[in-house]
Amino acid sequence: MFKVGKINIEKALLLAPMEDVTDIAYRKLCKELGADVVYTEFVNSDGLIRSNKKTEKKLEITNDERPVGIQIYGGNLEPMIGAARIAESKEPDMIDINAGCWVKKIATRGAGAGLMRDPCYLQTMVESIVKTVKIPVTVKTRIGWDNDSINILEIAKRLEDAGAAALTIHCRTRKQGHSGDADWSWITKVKEVISIPVALNGGIFTAEDVVRAFNHTDADAIMIARGAIDHPWIFREAKELLSGNQVSEVTPDERIYTTLRHLRYSLELKEVRAAVIPFRKYYTGYLKGLHNSKEVRQQLYQQLEYAPIEEILLQYLDLLKNTQQLGDSILNGGEYGT
Ligand SMILES: Cc1cc2nc3c(=O)[nH]c(=O)nc-3n(C[C@H](O)[C@H](O)[C@H](O)COP(=O)(O)O)c2cc1C
Repeated sequence: MFKVGKINIEKALLLAPMEDVTDIAYRKLCKELGADVVYTEFVNSDGLIRSNKKTEKKLEITNDERPVGIQIYGGNLEPMIGAARIAESKEPDMIDINAGCWVKKIATRGAGAGLMRDPCYLQTMVESIVKTVKIPVTVKTRIGWDNDSINILEIAKRLEDAGAAALTIHCRTRKQGHSGDADWSWITKVKEVISIPVALNGGIFTAEDVVRAFNHTDADAIMIARGAIDHPWIFREAKELLSGNQVSEVTPDERIYTTLRHLRYSLELKEVRAAVIPFRKYYTGYLKGLHNSKEVRQQLYQQLEYAPIEEILLQYLDLLKNTQQLGDSILNGGEYGT
């Protein structure tokens, strides 16, 4: 059971914190598609205590997406405590501490996964934040720095002692980054030594992976990152499978209208170019498997306004439907088939 504060969900599906991905628009979309809990991207503690406007903007959350966690990161105690206070003032459902980021300039300076190299300090940091804020504090970490220093069992015990309300474990080492196999077997081992909820993260790309992860480990929740960027329908599909139903196919209609809906959510938050240009990263996944999508993507990449994007996509959908009707007709021996 993923029980964190007022959240109480069996087999919870979590949308992972992802820099430049999990903004309000994307979180809202994933929520509508079945994510139970969503997280902001990581927010720099030093930027927050210096009132950096760009950093502060990352704290914005809306009621539509609840329950939502704000993730903060940093290697120094006082700024992290200050940042936790600022994050709490935005009234998220929890604060998540990043103890897993592998990026060199973060991890080698003692933040993110760098915190795993000093478990005692990590414990002190989490304990201090837990004492500072009234809402639940959770931690996202990895299994260790590298294969020779896997210390997740010690870290997990220390974090539970520090008062963490739950842990997410990205089942790779810092050295692995985002590649190589995620070793889910650590989840079961961790569950043997602590009693707070544990979320499994790493290597979940399909609804079948979600079911397999729940079946093979004692995870209370599954957190999905890259698998949701390409395919946000993974949450809905996983729920279908978990409740014993078949996965319903994502239709071309759904692909096109979801793309447009997500883009419109982005436009509610950002200037048109600031929404349209970064949105390009979603086209490959959203249009995957559709006939001739490469050509359509090339056209979409040229656009800087919403209206032509909508026009291209709706025309494309018409074309797909006509092609489908033609195909059906040939198969059924109709007008075109005889
Ligand atoms: C584009 C991108 C941005 C990420 N940003 C964050 C972040 O802000 N905070 C965090 O804890 N992890 C971040 N991660 C790591 C993911 O949350 C996750 O731990 C990792 O991708 C492994 O999960 P996956 O195999 O499902 O992708 C990021 C990953 C990606 C791909």
